[in-house]
Amino acid sequence: MLGNSSNGYGCVSRVVHWLAVILVASAFGLAWVMTEMASSPEKFRLYGIHKSIGALIVALGLARIAWTAAQPAPPPLGELAPWQRAAAKAVHGLLLLWLVAMPLSGWLMSSAAGRPVSVFGWFALPALIGPDRPTAHALGEVHEMLASLGLLLIGLHVAAALWHHFVLKDGTLRRMLPCRLGGCGCDDGACGGPPEGRSCGCGGHGGGSGDGSGSCGCGGKGKDA
Ligand code: HEM
Ligand code: HEM
Repeated sequence: MLGNSSNGYGCVSRVVHWLAVILVASAFGLAWVMTEMASSPEKFRLYGIHKSIGALIVALGLARIAWTAAQPAPPPLGELAPWQRAAAKAVHGLLLLWLVAMPLSGWLMSSAAGRPVSVFGWFALPALIGPDRPTAHALGEVHEMLASLGLLLIGLHVAAALWHHFVLKDGTLRRMLPCRLGGCGCDDGACGGPPEGRSCGCGGHGGGSGDGSGSCGCGGKGKDA
């Protein structure tokens, strides 16, 4: 199943989600290492990789926004209070915007600093604005602030995902995992809530483990992600 359904995320959403997570983690990791290094060719090599990864993230973020517009996310699982649904929706929307705004601020900063932005040496991105030192400095501050905001959003988002998985014991995390890594709902079936009292069907084949063990038996037997 490539697209999302009312039961869960399709293959494209799942793969793009985890690809974005890997790229964002790499951009943060490189940023923290490179900004601590003394000036050297190695430092500037890492700057280049950081910017190249950021460029991939802008492209991925835009693609993700277009995909989400065409393929609405499935409704949340479980019995959530209205404020929890609204908070989840707001955080997801902000994360999507952040995926574009964060690297865009870096690209603007490099343009204002008069520095080229080459994507892994394959091609160069055009400068978005002309060189101007004070603007470059201000955009550096914006880049740093957006980084902190991103860490806050990601922290809230991860805490919510873990709360669903370990406390509510519903299929929220598993329906975002690639099918081969234990994801559920891979064949357009429901990927439901906790085993006791509510349904926990993975792949639409019924009521989860149902053994009161707290596990939602989704077994990773999917086929498309
Ligand atoms: C999601 C993507 C990105 C993330 C998460 C990210 C994150 C960061 C972080 C945390 C820093 C350190 C800030 C500080 O403490 O000064 C940084 C620095 C930097 N970033 Fe990014 N960045 C991203 C994309 C980009 C892009 C696309 C560019 C340029 C095209 C870029 C250019 C830079 C530069 C030049 C610095 C060094 C600033 C300095 O030396 O003060 N970043 N980035
Ligand atoms: C760079 C970090 C991350 C970003 C930018 C991000 C972004 C997003 C976005 C935008 C969505 C909504 C999907 C949509 O509307 O199509 C989403 C959903 C989801 N993410 Fe993340 N995510 C990140 C990290 C993580 C991590 C580390 C986890 C796991 C611990 C995670 C677990 C989930 C889950 C379970 C959903 C589905 C929520 C639901 O079904 O309501 N995410 N993520």
